[in-house]
Amino acid sequence: MKIIGTGSALPEKVVTNEMLASFLETSDEWISTRTGIKTRRLLSHETLIDLGVEAGKKAMAASGLQGSDIDYLICSNVANTYVTPSISSIILSQIGCKCPCLDVNCACTGFIYALDIAEAFHKAKKYKNILIICTESPSRYCNWHERETSVLFGDGAGAVVVTDGDNFVDSIVTGDSHTDVLYYKRTMEFTPFDRAEERTTSLVMQGREVFKLAVRSCTRDIRTILERNNMKPEDFQYFLLHQANLRIIDSIRENMKQPVEKFPTNLQKYGNTSSASIPIMIDEMSRANMFEDGANLLLSAFGGGFVTGAAIMKWEKINYND
Ligand code: UT7
Repeated sequence: MKIIGTGSALPEKVVTNEMLASFLETSDEWISTRTGIKTRRLLSHETLIDLGVEAGKKAMAASGLQGSDIDYLICSNVANTYVTPSISSIILSQIGCKCPCLDVNCACTGFIYALDIAEAFHKAKKYKNILIICTESPSRYCNWHERETSVLFGDGAGAVVVTDGDNFVDSIVTGDSHTDVLYYKRTMEFTPFDRAEERTTSLVMQGREVFKLAVRSCTRDIRTILERNNMKPEDFQYFLLHQANLRIIDSIRENMKQPVEKFPTNLQKYGNTSSASIPIMIDEMSRANMFEDGANLLLSAFGGGFVTGAAIMKWEKINYND
């Protein structure tokens, strides 16, 4: 399998730390030093579906494929207004595809899970051209009166098209039940037969616990995938990590004993865009011609669950005509 097209889409509205400090008891100084985030893009007039459609269309255009060439669509998303039908089935018709489609909700690890599933389809020779779209709007499940969570997130979408090739080296995904440290609950409809007490919560997060779990699990996953492929950190041009907090990325980098330049970031501009953070970064770096042809890239992410994943791929340059 290999990536032959990338795309991304961001909401128009730029929200600075200073803007947040006008209605929350926070400051640019706190947010910048604790997280690295300076601005984020938040949905205002667009929808989550619009972002997914735009990112998906850009990825298809870059790949040279039409909607009718796509054999399978995988969408990664944590929450949206539709519980059913799936977000992938809604996006499908808007990008001109008519193929099987599947949603994954693996929190911020969704992109790596989707790659892992796509690779399994390829190995089984079931589907050739697979479009992966990660479209996320965490701003819509944060409580905007809570400074602990709302300052951290941003909305956005990233997409890739994969097809036959030998560039995807390996991936691992893990699950380990720590459901209390990060969750968002919605109530179901009332029934006269089930009296279970339910309450909608906005995003609940034990920040320090998530921080520690993130550093520990990403370091473990990276070491595992390096070892089983007989590779060293020095073999990689870039480590593309989930963009949650600069300090998390820096701690993992220190564990890998690698220079800062190998750990690119976009969280300063976009905040934590959940599963979209890595594909947005891949799209922007690829379009800026930052990946060397044949370079090894290592991806690693963590998310609510706790579910985590890592992947290794070799980059092959993509020609963008737009
Ligand atoms: O995709 C996964 C999503 N989640 C994450 O990745 C989160 C991982 N965790 C983190 O990134 C960090 O734990 C945070 C950025 C969330 C918090 O940083 P921290 O250094 O762990 O701070 P803390 O939670 O220990 O809070 C320190 C202080 C507290 O005040 P006191 O108790 O020391 O008086 C908080 O109430 O900072 C206060 N605080 C804030 N102050 C200003 C918490 N949020 C804010 C805020 N502005 N936005």
